[in-house]
Order: sequence, then structure tokens, then C-alpha cells
Amino acid sequence: MRMTYTSDLWWKNAVVYCLDVETFKDGNGDGIGDFRGLTQEIDYLAGLGITCLWLMPFYPTPNKDDGYDVTDFYSVDPRLGTLGDFVEFMRTAHDRGLRVIADLVVNHTSDQHPWFVESRSGRDSPRRDWYVWSDTPEPNPKEVVFPDKEDSVWEHDPHTGQYYLHTFYRHQPDLNVANPEVRDEIARVLGFWMELGLSGFRVDAVPFLIENVSPELADPHDFLAELRAFMTRRKGGSVLLGEVNLEYDQLLEYFGDGLGDQLTMCFDFVAMQRAWLSLARRDAGPLASALRERPEPPKDCQWAMFLRNHDELTLDKLTEDERQEIFAAFGPDKDMQIFGRGLRRRLPPMFGGDERRIKMAYSLLFSLPGTPVLFYGEEIGLGEDLSAEGRMAVRTPMRWSAEGGFTQAERPVRAMPDGPNVADHRRDNDSLLRWIQLLIERYRESLELAWGDHTVLDAGDPAVLAHRCDADGATIVAVHNLDDRECEAELDLTGLERCVLTDLLVDGTVKVPGSGRVRLPLDPYGCRWLRVSAPEVSPEDASVKAQ
Ligand code: BGC
Repeated sequence: MRMTYTSDLWWKNAVVYCLDVETFKDGNGDGIGDFRGLTQEIDYLAGLGITCLWLMPFYPTPNKDDGYDVTDFYSVDPRLGTLGDFVEFMRTAHDRGLRVIADLVVNHTSDQHPWFVESRSGRDSPRRDWYVWSDTPEPNPKEVVFPDKEDSVWEHDPHTGQYYLHTFYRHQPDLNVANPEVRDEIARVLGFWMELGLSGFRVDAVPFLIENVSPELADPHDFLAELRAFMTRRKGGSVLLGEVNLEYDQLLEYFGDGLGDQLTMCFDFVAMQRAWLSLARRDAGPLASALRERPEPPKDCQWAMFLRNHDELTLDKLTEDERQEIFAAFGPDKDMQIFGRGLRRRLPPMFGGDERRIKMAYSLLFSLPGTPVLFYGEEIGLGEDLSAEGRMAVRTPMRWSAEGGFTQAERPVRAMPDGPNVADHRRDNDSLLRWIQLLIERYRESLELAWGDHTVLDAGDPAVLAHRCDADGATIVAVHNLDDRECEAELDLTGLERCVLTDLLVDGTVKVPGSGRVRLPLDPYGCRWLRVSAPEVSPEDASVKAQ
């Protein structure tokens, strides 16, 4: 049976694609990506099949943290275009059926934001209380996030003699969300961009954002509930996708416990990190255990799944030994590691460019329970630039053609090392781009994957992750071989005896024997998505029924 879900919960089976306007496509030839360039490539994105764009910060910024240091929440960085260009881009995206969300970075501002300039101008400044000031550097209750650059989260301000809190870099003072004026202003920012067509936000650094609310609100989570209620009033169906890198037992609170009235989706950092451990060990165990331990989000909420993003591949939820295993497998050089907890690498070079393994990893991503999120360039296997500073290694410009195709200018905003490009991938039917397109198409057709109940199955071989997704009597079984040897999965599909399994990625069918135990051969790094259909009724069975 094919399901026909029509719902405002569009994000349940969305395919999210994260990009930075600055590095995607230059439309005016100055070497910097911009909204005009991005607008020219909307058809490419729509053709890929993605359904929702996540724009990294595009607001005015001194750019000391790649735009995560904002000086004006109500405008577009002039290097990237104008508000007019933004609106044209939104119109085109909507015309092609794409939704757009954007980074909401309101844990902090740039220290050059006029609010902070005013706040630090004197202890009696009307905006003094918009930031978090203290007479002493409080005993440091939390670790610094960027240990390569900071050793405290408090910075002394010689002008007023007090210290201000900065969870991240010292040039990013934390906003004081305990101040109701600040919370109102944040809601105004949301309202502004929603009015210009955004369908929601990727909320930066959520746990840090809400920890500053206390003691103003009885429960810091009320702040998230306030924001979500505000958005729902303004525009039903808008989403908050949260960056909440916490263990599962703390995560549910961010959805609003049983209520589901806070974040709509949370990135699953735990399953992501265990997936990398599984990939390194060629053993499905760690990922399978994460999926089994993972709590169900409240109804109408969902996990967001990813393998890589614009930051370091953080491995902070693993033990030191586990982290070292992943470093040894995928980033053995010190230069590839960062902050003592992660890798500043993109996925394809981590797999030494092995296309079978890369394709299997993305098949896994799309088949796992949770909305898949891609980072731009993943669809062509864009590599990294280890000569770039820190996390910038994975933020190189998109490559459109053999010559680069990102800009007409001689010097692009960032170096563009040689590498794969869109034009070549489009010409080759076996390319990674075509594979990702196929996965997206099948994922969008297979609502069981997004809406169904998920069960991890025993696969009979440690290298194989097998799981099934069931919704309204429809079932898909997915199997992935994490190792480079042929193997055979043996699955117990009791209840599906004599059903037919149709392979959705290559031609072929398998019949489930009367015992319910099915054997599935898998190539090295092989992957299969199998749709279950009811057994064909034999003429004998039919005549028995007719009597
Ligand atoms: C973003 C980073 C950024 C930091 C500070 C993070 O969570 O993903 O890229 O540096 O927030 O805004």
C-alpha cells in the first residue's frame, strides 16, 4: 500500500541542504559568492531533489567567525547582496518548490554590534543589561568551546572595569536573554525573516542560549516554548532545528518533553558520532546501539541526521580510546585534528576517495530514521583544504566546472583546490551526484522511512546494519555492509513470510521464504533498500478462497 500523507509537517520527510552564500556561487564577479549567484543555481538544487535550503549566516559581520558574529540581525551582508537580492532569491526558491531556513545566531553578537558598543559604553548605558556583565570572572563553570584560542569565557573590559561573558570567542559577547527586552528583540528578528518568507531557523548553540535565561524564567526551556509559540502564531508549519550537542537523556527536554512545543527537530550528534565509530570499526554495533537507545521524540517532532557539517566532525561524546580509533582511521595527521575532539575533514577524503564506501555512507544517511541534512558539495564529493585555517578547511568554494566555475574573478574569496565538479558529475550516470539524486528520489517516495516506526534488526554479521521502517502496513527493509568484504545478511522477517522484497536502488527482487528467514548477499560496502509487497496469490490459493 502506498501512503499519501498530506500534512503541514513538511519537514518530516524534507531533505535539507546547508550552504554558505559566500562560497556557493559568485554572481557579480567580485570573487565572493552572493544571492544573485545562488539564485542562478536554484534550478540545480531543485533538480538534485532537495526540498529545504539552510542558509548559514548571511547577515552583516566583521567575519571573524565566518558570519557567526553578527552586527545587524535585520540585514544582508553587503558583500553577499542586498535585501532586494534576498527577496528575489526567496521568490525563485519558492517558485521551484524549495523552502528556506536560516541560521539564527542569538546566543551572542559580534563585539562590533551597535548593541554591544552601547552596552560597553558605560555601566549606566540603557543597553548595559543586554549582555552578561560581572565584577569578577566567575569561577569558570563551563569549558571553553574553542580551546585553541580562548582559556576563559570571561573577558575584562578595561573601560568599565567589568567582565563580560562570551561562551565562544572573546569577540562574541553573549546576549543576556534573561532580559525580556532582549527576548522580545529576538522574537522580532524571527518575525522579520518569516515575513520575508523563511520557513524557520537552524538555532545555533541552543543549550548555551537558554542557560543564560535563568533565573528570569522558572524553566529556561520556557524561552524555547515562547519562541515556538510565537512562530506558530505567525506562520504555522515553521520549524526550529536545534544544534543541541547533548546526550539523549538531556535531549528530550529540548523538544518540550512529551509536549513537543519547543524545538521541532534536533540534530542527532550521538548517532552521528556512533556512526563514525561504526564506519571506522566496520562494525554496525555502535550505531545500532545508538539507534536502539535513542528516545522517540514527541509526536510531530523529529531527529535530523547528518554525517558532516560546516564545523569540525566533533567526537566529543565518545571515549578517548574511541576518538583515537576514529582519528587513526580517518584523520591520523595532527593537522587533520582540531580542538582535541574532532576532525576538520570532509567525508570523501576520509574514505580515501573510495566511491563504493562513500556511496554506502550516504545510502545509510538517507535510510536512517530522521530528516537527512547535507552540507553543500557532499553530492559531488567536494574535498577539503587543509592549508586553510581551522574549521575553514571544509568551507571551500563549490566547484561547478573543471575550471572552478565559482567566480569569474581571478581570486576567489577562498582558495579552491582542484577537485570534483558539478559539470563532470552531471555527465556521468554513475557519479556520486547521480547516486545522491537517486537516494533523494527514493527517500521522497518512501514515506515509511520518514514517518514509520523503526526497528534495528539482527543481521547475523557484525559488519551489517539492518533496519526496517513500518508505517500503515507498508514496510521498507534497509541493509548496509560497512566492510569491504562480501557478506550475507540473514534477517528474521517473521510476519512477512512469502512477501516479495523489491530492491529500490538496483533492479531485482527477493522472496521471503516460508520460514521468514531471508538471506541477502551484499557486495563490499553494499547497500540495499527493499520495499516489501504482499505475496502474489497463487491460482490454488485463489480458488480455495473462492469456494
Ligand atoms: C556554529 C559554529 C560557530 C559557533 C559560534 C556553532 O555552533 O555551528 O560554526 O562558530 O556556533 O557561533
